Amino acid sequence: MSAGRGRTSRGPGRGDGAPPVLEARGIVKRFGHVEALRGADFAVHRGEVVALIGDNGAGKSTLIKVLSGAQPQDGGEILVDGRPQRFGSPLDARRAGVETVYQDLAVADDLSVAANLYLGREIRRRGLPGRLGLLDKRAMRRGAAAALEQLGVRVPRVTTPIAMLSGGQRQSVAVARAVVWATSVVILDEPTAALGVVQTARVLEVIERARDAGRSVVLVSHNMPQVLEVADRVEVMRLGRRTARFRAADVTTDDLVAAMTGALATEPEDAADLH
Ligand SMILES: Nc1ncnc2c1ncn2[C@@H]1O[C@H](COP(=O)(O)OP(=O)(O)OP(=O)(O)O)[C@@H](O)[C@H]1O
Ligand SMILES: [Mg+2]
Repeated sequence: MSAGRGRTSRGPGRGDGAPPVLEARGIVKRFGHVEALRGADFAVHRGEVVALIGDNGAGKSTLIKVLSGAQPQDGGEILVDGRPQRFGSPLDARRAGVETVYQDLAVADDLSVAANLYLGREIRRRGLPGRLGLLDKRAMRRGAAAALEQLGVRVPRVTTPIAMLSGGQRQSVAVARAVVWATSVVILDEPTAALGVVQTARVLEVIERARDAGRSVVLVSHNMPQVLEVADRVEVMRLGRRTARFRAADVTTDDLVAAMTGALATEPEDAADLH
């Protein structure tokens, strides 16, 4: 583990005045009569890890889906680098550099590890074979092996079908894919929920490496010690809205639990200086 995790001068409070790399303002999302998001706000700045926390059903996954183009919002706006954007699909978000690992995992079971890493970004062979749609599987196998090695993700072989991996290995591949391709923001919705102790530590390391490489990371987690360990900042959702924001260095797990249950709220009055 690197030194100074989550407690360094990186992240919030740098006062560089840059707009957030990704921001949600007043997002409303309804499912029939259920109002999952009721004017939800969220922001992540360049090079920071922000934990998004809240009780079950608070709206975290729904907000992530809106932020990543997987679901259209009914109101509010998304801004990238301060500019309003319309994400009509996850592809639009990816083009803006935003990669997401959803809570309900999105890996293709019948494809290999390598094919999953390159899903939608397949390398074609050179020349006519490539123009005819033939893929350069060797290049993808090599690239996948190198990427997994670099991220410390262990799978039997990159040619193994995803269906034959354990739940934790699958989740690790999904995280690796997001980190490899994200040029701006990596969004992880409970990425360690199915992982053992060792794999969890690896994912946390991967998150730090992504931040050290200048990416921003949004981490949804119910594990409060983990949140305080890895995040620079914490945003709390309750009943479809952001209700509190903290610097991780300023709070305890008790404070976070109090904020999630509504005993402690800092929005909107007290948080103006936190971006
Ligand atoms: N596709 C859907 N159809 C209907 N209701 C939905 C749908 N997706 C989410 N909801 C509802 O929206 C609310 C927020 O759900 P969401 O999954 O965003 O919560 P969450 O904060 O991610 O919870 P958890 O911590 O359990 O993952 C819940 O009341 C949920 O039942
Ligand atoms: Mg969720």
